[in-house]
Amino acid sequence: MKKTLTIATAILISATLAAQTVKITVHDSNEGPVIPKEIYGQFSEHLGSCIYGGLWVGPESSIPNINGYRKDVVDALKTLKVPVMRWPGGCFADDYHWRDGIGPQSERPRMVNSNWGGTVEDNSFGTHEFMNLCELLECEPYISGNVGSGSVEELAKWVEYITAPDGPMAKLRAENGRKEPWKLKYLGLGNEAWGCGGSMTPEYYSHIYRRYATYCRNFGDNRLYKIGSGASDYDFNWTKVLMEMVGNRMDGVSLHYYTVDNWNSKGSATEFTAEEYAQTLGKTMDIEPVIRKHIEIMDQYDPEKKIDLLVDEWGTWFDVEPGTNPGHLFQQNTMRDAIVAALNLNIFHKYTDRIKMTNIAQVANVLQAMVLTEGDKMVLTPTYHVFRMYNVHQDAVHLPIECDAADVSDAKGRPYPAVDATASRSADGAIHISLVNTSLDKDEEVTIGFDTMKKVKVSGEILTSDKIQDYNGFDTPDTVCPAAFKGFKVKDGRITVNLPAKSVVSLTVM
Ligand code: AHR
Repeated sequence: MKKTLTIATAILISATLAAQTVKITVHDSNEGPVIPKEIYGQFSEHLGSCIYGGLWVGPESSIPNINGYRKDVVDALKTLKVPVMRWPGGCFADDYHWRDGIGPQSERPRMVNSNWGGTVEDNSFGTHEFMNLCELLECEPYISGNVGSGSVEELAKWVEYITAPDGPMAKLRAENGRKEPWKLKYLGLGNEAWGCGGSMTPEYYSHIYRRYATYCRNFGDNRLYKIGSGASDYDFNWTKVLMEMVGNRMDGVSLHYYTVDNWNSKGSATEFTAEEYAQTLGKTMDIEPVIRKHIEIMDQYDPEKKIDLLVDEWGTWFDVEPGTNPGHLFQQNTMRDAIVAALNLNIFHKYTDRIKMTNIAQVANVLQAMVLTEGDKMVLTPTYHVFRMYNVHQDAVHLPIECDAADVSDAKGRPYPAVDATASRSADGAIHISLVNTSLDKDEEVTIGFDTMKKVKVSGEILTSDKIQDYNGFDTPDTVCPAAFKGFKVKDGRITVNLPAKSVVSLTVM
């Protein structure tokens, strides 16, 4: 049975609990569903320096680039094995007019990015630049269409421009340098239609969705997967109405969830107390009951699970770094973010019979980013390292586990686990176990047993840091970096791990 402790009690009695061992059983004989690689999806918006400076510097830049894409960032993202990239927003999507982003770059119209700091957008990164980036990264493109301020015709023609093998849009595409159609699977019909995407009611959006979905057609052998703009965290009625009124006209419906409790004061990304740390973990873990409730509603209308739930925005959201544009959402990324990433991925692994994609916000220089750039410098964030350590779980078979670790709770009484874990078996037969110790000061002894596996050969990797507030700065890029992990013993098919405080550990078991 799970025990729940407040953080204060946990610290007080940590001495007495010190000798207790956390027991984990990996049910390697009881295989769960495959973890779709799209659970590891990314999101890139025209916001701050996510696109310009983060992904794209242009071919004339002195920063090393491949046809305008930053080479350092492309290399880092290739290592990550990004499966899918969402673009161009976010809120920006419902202000974006795709025709402004095709043709000679110098002739493209400019616009004001009203959602994000009033920055002037020169449209030099448009459809071709995005679709070619996805080809370079070998990932699926996920386009969020403009439903809020665009028209049905505009979006229908965008789909035709991207995917039609022939016809007027295909001709225009060829004139702009691309003869062959691209493949486009994921098409979002609007973003946050309840807010920046049009301030709609769920009923009104449902009607609109049905209109847009009718005219977004399949060309040639391209098959669209249409995504309804879904709820924000606790808005269960939004999901209910969409399931009722749109139903299987959607292939998937989205959900957005951020770690914010107070939008007026989100707290510093790097200077935070133990209580604030607990709050972030409590809020991030609250995504699990939220997911369960949305799934419960979906199950009522779609018991056969034909419609997927896509958490296409999630992650930490803190105050911007001092001195940066408040509309650019640039935040540093600490070991706390790494732990948040691991806990969320562990949760998503458990619900893959319904959750088929997630997209952390965002890939570069915005919110819980994978990479941060400044001029020609780039750092990999602690969150990046977790995504890299976890990419062994992509398309692997999920193995259910039992873990008897105690829960700790934040000041609002929201529980989070002292130790958390997930496991999967990859195609080569290896079992990958990812462990998280959320404690700021207490190492944990963890024993891991298996149903059937008797002889085990183990290797490990760890991400940890001296302080939970540690981050990778542009002059200190290796402060939080993965290292080989040897803190385990193997005996009689069981692994005993000494799991350091505030760490994420990956074990590969053969
Ligand atoms: O990710 C930043 C913003 O958060 C997105 O543009 C919007 O969809 C959400 O509110």
